[in-house]
Amino acid sequence: MIITTTERLIIRRFVEADYDRLLALVTDPIVMRYNTDGHGDAAYARARLSEAMADPGPALGTWAVQTSDDPALLGYVSLFREDPAMAEDEVELGYFFLPEHWGKGYAPEAAKALITHAFATTNTTRILAIVDPSNTRSATALKKLGMTRTGTTQAKGIKPGDWVFAVERSSI
Ligand SMILES: CC(C)(COP(=O)(O)OP(=O)(O)OC[C@H]1O[C@@H](n2cnc3c(N)ncnc32)[C@H](O)[C@@H]1OP(=O)(O)O)[C@@H](O)C(=O)NCCC(=O)NCCS
Repeated sequence: MIITTTERLIIRRFVEADYDRLLALVTDPIVMRYNTDGHGDAAYARARLSEAMADPGPALGTWAVQTSDDPALLGYVSLFREDPAMAEDEVELGYFFLPEHWGKGYAPEAAKALITHAFATTNTTRILAIVDPSNTRSATALKKLGMTRTGTTQAKGIKPGDWVFAVERSSI
């Protein structure tokens, strides 16, 4: 099932054939350096794949990213609600790409398409992203896709001192 597309990319539901590349992604300590769970193993990859394959959509969930002409997994983009302090109409954005696909602008392109889709198909009015200040690649990607830094996380279940970025439905 395709969620949305861009000029270069397809954002779609995960399928079983994504497992090997998802495993490579979640076990790569460079990719997962800023993941709050740390880097994963085969059981983590299997659990993430099962969860992602069951995500109902239309926008919330974890979605595979591929190029328009090749089904191979490049990475994933996700919209989720983990922090109970978030308002009902807010969701958080995440993305992780295999290092061989960094430096191509795929993360901001895929994430922007997903947030546009979320604003169009759900009652979400605000999308947040939390970034470790030393994760400069991710902060740059967020600015490129139109998010603005609004503050710094406080201690409420998430690591304090991270940067908070946001985008409002009204600004898209
Ligand atoms: C965060 C992450 C997805 C960003 O990857 P990235 O490669 O730095 O970002 P991009 O893919 O946007 O690459 C940027 C480069 O792509 C190139 N680029 C941008 N748009 C392009 C396009 N349309 N066509 C070709 N190249 C393009 C540019 O050279 C750009 O470099 P510049 O910013 O110096 O101009 C990646 O580092 C990652 O997966 N990190 C690990 C996971 C992570 O930290 N996730 C976020 C947790 S909050």
